[in-house]
Amino acid sequence: MFDNGEILPGFERLLGLKRQAKGLAYTSLCLSLCDLWQRTAAFMILDVTDLCKTFPGAGHGEPVEVLKSLNLHVAQGESVAILGQSGSGKSTLLTLLAGLDAPSSGSIVLNGQNLQTLDEAQLAQFRARNIGIIFQQFHLMSHLSALENVSLPLDLFHDPDAAAKAALALEQVGLSKRKAHFPHQMSGGECQRVAIARAMVVRPAILLADEPTGNLDNQTGAYVSDMIFDLVKEHRMTMLFVTHNEGLAKRCEREQRLQNGRFV
Ligand SMILES: Nc1ncnc2c1ncn2[C@@H]1O[C@H](COP(=O)(O)OP(=O)(O)OP(=O)(O)O)[C@@H](O)[C@H]1O
Ligand SMILES: [Mg+2]
Repeated sequence: MFDNGEILPGFERLLGLKRQAKGLAYTSLCLSLCDLWQRTAAFMILDVTDLCKTFPGAGHGEPVEVLKSLNLHVAQGESVAILGQSGSGKSTLLTLLAGLDAPSSGSIVLNGQNLQTLDEAQLAQFRARNIGIIFQQFHLMSHLSALENVSLPLDLFHDPDAAAKAALALEQVGLSKRKAHFPHQMSGGECQRVAIARAMVVRPAILLADEPTGNLDNQTGAYVSDMIFDLVKEHRMTMLFVTHNEGLAKRCEREQRLQNGRFV
C-alpha cells in the first residue's frame, strides 16, 4: 500500500515532523537545563567548600577538630536551619562565615567574594555591608544607645542617612520609644530586638542567627522569632538559623544537621 503515491509522501512527512519535534524537544530540554544551571549558579549567595576548623589544644591538650571538610551551598532567599548537638560546631561555623575567625583550610565564598582573600580592614567593611549577625547574647555595645548601636554598621561605611535608617529599623522592631536607651536600660527581649534591627539595617546579603532566642523566656522568644521570620520573609532575605528548637527549624525552608564535623 506504500506504493500508493498519496499515502507514502504523507507518511514520510509525518516521520519528518516527528524527527523535527524530537529535535526541538531535545534542544529545548538542553536550553532549560542550561538556563536552570545559569540561574542556580547566578543566585548562589553562599558556597562553602571543604571547610575545616581545628582549634589548638588548651594547655597540653589535643587539638580540637571541629569542622571536617564541610560543604554548604545556599541560594539567595533561602532560609536554612542549622541543627546539631551542643559542641558540634554550629557557632564555630557561623563565626567563620561571618569572617570573625579564619578557617584552617577550605573556602567560603559569600556574595561572590572569597573571604580568605580579604585582610582585617577589608573584612570589617565587607561584613558591615553584607552580613547581619544576631547572637544569643545580643552583643550590643554597652556604651552606645539603641539608635547608635543600630547605626554602627552604617557608620562603618559613612552612610549619610545612618541615623534616619537606624530610626526606621528600630521602628520596624517596635522600639521607637527606646532610641536613647542604653543596653542596661532595656529588657533582654528589647536588647535582642535592637540586635535584630542592627543586623537588618544594612539589608545584608545574608543573615546569620545563632540561637537568637536562647536567652529569652518562651513568650518573648516566640515574639522575637516571629519578628525574625516575618522580616526575613518581607525582605526575601537569605538566612542561616542555628537552633536546638525543632519547631523553629521547621519554619526554615531547609534543615542541615551537623555531626562529627560534617552535615549528615
Ligand atoms: N576558641 C576555641 N578554642 C578551643 N576549642 C574551641 C574554641 N571554640 C570552640 N571550641 C570547641 O569547639 C567545639 C564546638 O564549639 P561550638 O561553640 O561551635 O559548638 P556549638 O555547636 O555552637 O554548641 P552549642 O549548641 O552548645 O552552642 C566545642 O567542643 C568547643 O569546646
Ligand atoms: Mg553555639
